[in-house]
Amino acid sequence: MLVAHTLSSKNILLIIGGSIAAYKALDLIRRLRERGARVRVILTKAAQAFVTPLAISVLTGEHVFTNLFSCSDAQDINHIRLAREVDMIVIAPCSSTRLAKMACGFGTDFAGTVLLATRAPVLAAPAMNPAMWNHPATQRNIAQLTKDGIFFTGPENGEMAECGEAGEGRMSEPLSIVAAVESLFVQLKGFLADKHILVTSGPTHEPLDPVRYFANRSSGKQGHAIATVLARSGAHVTLVSGPVALADPTGVNTIHVETAQQMRAAVLAALPADAAIFVAAVADWRPVAIASKKIKKQPNFGQISLNMIANPDILSEIAHSKRRPQLVIGFAAETFDVLEHAKAKLFRKGADWIIVNDVSRRPDGSGIMGGDQNKVTVMSCDNNVESWPQMDKTTIAEKLVQRITDFFKDKSGEQM
Ligand code: CTP
Repeated sequence: MLVAHTLSSKNILLIIGGSIAAYKALDLIRRLRERGARVRVILTKAAQAFVTPLAISVLTGEHVFTNLFSCSDAQDINHIRLAREVDMIVIAPCSSTRLAKMACGFGTDFAGTVLLATRAPVLAAPAMNPAMWNHPATQRNIAQLTKDGIFFTGPENGEMAECGEAGEGRMSEPLSIVAAVESLFVQLKGFLADKHILVTSGPTHEPLDPVRYFANRSSGKQGHAIATVLARSGAHVTLVSGPVALADPTGVNTIHVETAQQMRAAVLAALPADAAIFVAAVADWRPVAIASKKIKKQPNFGQISLNMIANPDILSEIAHSKRRPQLVIGFAAETFDVLEHAKAKLFRKGADWIIVNDVSRRPDGSGIMGGDQNKVTVMSCDNNVESWPQMDKTTIAEKLVQRITDFFKDKSGEQM
């Protein structure tokens, strides 16, 4: 039977993990290769108990990577180079241990270091006993990895090869994994594929002296979620992030900054962009002077006055500049007269849309900022107002990215 070369010129790295389902990886290699892909394989130590490097190298026609530190092998290449060279990484079978290692960012073996270093999309095909799959720890890892931008296919319902138990946990069949690989390539070549989108995220820290700074409660979760979903939709994403306790999203060019002035410089350097989404909670003021030594308490003085100066308004500057992206989106954090303030900001700053959220503290004293959920209203400069129900920040990101995709679809329709 003639098979269409749907994966021709694609460079795929297959990580075969330790599971009885590893035998199916042999067929997966054949299926990928007959569609035109170049397949190189990392065979983990645990996987070597199930399949041999010799069988893999015969099927791939390539050197098989088995060990992080085998410098003696002339064909071994640096894990960073390998991580950068590939178009997609497929992990099949992906064991519960691999999921746990990935969720924690362990680079303790060759596969782990490549997964940490890559910017390529990663598709995992889990395989494990149903009880292990349903364990809260595994489900927690899946949720974390999905947030990190990892894609999954399966597992399926069925009987397990090793224990005869039935349930969810069986690795998808090679042909379904191939279909997932093909559709992921199509998805990533979606409407945003040729778009460069700039996102700012997190707070800024404005130093006062070597130990103190001004900041706010922004966690960066919303901005990072937007960058992650944009990258998953195929966009080329630059994320300018203030100090946050979050990992850099997979497949995103992340630039770390501390202050509003640094954020402005990084944003300007990242232009041109097709769209810019200003999610960061930029500090409005900074101390006029940064003391080189720690400011000491003066005895008997209960008060201190600080001289502050306004920071540049990055959104407003970019929206009014000659290099303005086609679509400029702002966020507005408000605690009173929420919609009125947001509308005024939308026009004053020159954005196309503004996403407004009420960040007042709840009656119990807890705050909205920093949480995993958000409730927003989207206002556009043509006076369209849309209130979204309370949602997970990733779901908000997905809805927003859909709106951005529709915007560019409409624009390309107008040009035709
Ligand atoms: N913003 C910016 N640069 C600043 C301040 C804000 O780019 N120096 C952007 C934010 O990223 C956000 C929007 O402007 O997209 C609104 O931010 P917000 O903090 O709600 O408004 P402010 O301009 O700070 O106004 P105010 O503090 O008076 O509410």
